[in-house]
Amino acid sequence: MTKTFYITTAIDYVNGQPHLGHAYEKVVTDVISRARRSLGQPVFFLTGLDEHGQKVQQAAVAEGKTPQAYCDDLASDWIAFTKTLQLTNQDFVRTSQPRHKAVVQAILAKLHREGHFYQSEYRGFYSARQETFLTEKDRRPDGTFDPMYGEVTELVENNYYFRLGAHQQWLIDHIEANPDFIKPAYRRNEVLGFLKNNTLEDLCITRPAARLSWGIPLPFDPDYVTYVWFDALVNYITVPAALGDPLLAAALPELKLPSVEKPQSLWPADIHVIGKDILKFHAVYWPIMLKAIGLPLPGQILAHGWWQKDGEKISKSTGNIIDPIAVINDWGLDAFRFYVTRELDIGPDGNWTDAGFASRYGAELANGLGNLVNRSLSMLKRYRGGVVPSQNDELAAGTAEAVCKIAGHWDKSELQDALTTTWSVVKRANEYIEQTAPFKLAKDPAQAARLDEVLYNLTETCRILAVLIQPFLPQTSLRIMAQLNLPGQADQLAEAKWGGIPPGHVVGDPLPLFPRRDQPPVTKA
Ligand code: ME8
Ligand code: MG
Repeated sequence: MTKTFYITTAIDYVNGQPHLGHAYEKVVTDVISRARRSLGQPVFFLTGLDEHGQKVQQAAVAEGKTPQAYCDDLASDWIAFTKTLQLTNQDFVRTSQPRHKAVVQAILAKLHREGHFYQSEYRGFYSARQETFLTEKDRRPDGTFDPMYGEVTELVENNYYFRLGAHQQWLIDHIEANPDFIKPAYRRNEVLGFLKNNTLEDLCITRPAARLSWGIPLPFDPDYVTYVWFDALVNYITVPAALGDPLLAAALPELKLPSVEKPQSLWPADIHVIGKDILKFHAVYWPIMLKAIGLPLPGQILAHGWWQKDGEKISKSTGNIIDPIAVINDWGLDAFRFYVTRELDIGPDGNWTDAGFASRYGAELANGLGNLVNRSLSMLKRYRGGVVPSQNDELAAGTAEAVCKIAGHWDKSELQDALTTTWSVVKRANEYIEQTAPFKLAKDPAQAARLDEVLYNLTETCRILAVLIQPFLPQTSLRIMAQLNLPGQADQLAEAKWGGIPPGHVVGDPLPLFPRRDQPPVTKA
């Protein structure tokens, strides 16, 4: 059984509407997934929803629904959102699913039996809004807590704790021995700095069922439900377990899930794509949980930055928001996917501006790629009746060099670099039109052979671009293939080899890929 490349996103909190940050992370993960498949690897892409916790319970009660019914209603919007983004995920995990509950409970039972937990009394402050405990240290100079915590109540509670301390040095060693484990490098340094300068406190893994019923019950103590983060992180192994992954079957022998005909080998995950705010959960707690369970660690935690809009925090309350669905309805999915991956490298924070969006749309999509394909095919139609001339290799070497670089970028999840390299091919081909001036060649019968050469180079470049943009702009890639009158999806990088379009082939009709427009994007619904 060969292991499939396994990549995940964070699972989004179900309460709330999908926003730019969610869309960005899912698009990034989808692009990496498509790029890997194009490189010839089988890929399993998982995304989903984080549904338990106090906030969901309260919101459901306020709407007069059961938490499950409340989540079911919202989940359909989130699932529709994956379709809007044309994500190529293989599964969609929800933490309220029975398969997930079974895996969480099997883990809890095993770790409890093996002595990783203990019970202890907690006395202190609790923020329901952030679902977090606070201490005296969290008070501001005037004695109050930051308003982001909402109402802070005093609690005395007995809870279960997970011993982390024993694993601290092991984790430092693992991170140091595996430079790609946390990416980018500055995030890795952040985690190492934290681990080297602090003693890990044990993790509280329960909440009393008396105040929180919407959670996964502890299998060994009905008075408690599982802390949402312990529950949520497990989603990454729920699906492998449900698909009969042999590593999971070995680690959790008592786990009873419906048997599968063709088990798949997914674990360990190759990449967990997450935002910078949840790095500690993924780079500290999750590895320790996995070690305790007896499972290998994921290959990489890839932490992206956060989007702002116009230099300010994205926030519902101030109205500083971008509704990705409104932008997609207005400008098209590929324009959205292009802007977010071209504008922002994976790592630093980004800044959305409507002017920047419109400017990239105009310069790089409409005038760049769109114009190239439209001019190339229009000229082939006009001067050669759409018939591809015999092969010529004038742009072959330059294109091959770019394809090779792009393969390397895809392999390292360097999406922004992949796009700049792809657009160097676009730019080179547009310059080639200016330099060779086919519209002048066409007027001189003595230049017919030269015109054939130029038209072949342009048409073949358009075909190769359909392959190179496929992970990022799947719709545009398909439209270029359709206009070229070529079958297939352009979804294998191997097809980006020069000379693929057969001489004598008749292309279809050119249509503008990115209509020119003057208005700024619609960023609110
Ligand atoms: O944290 N820019 O869910 P979530 C970029 N359920 N990314 C952003 C963003 C922004 N402005 N705002 C949020 C959770 N994100 C947990 C995860 S995983 C086991 C559990 C990203 O809905 C954020 O960084 O608050 C996170 O990766 C994802 O959206 C979901 O955030
Ligand atoms: Mg969040």
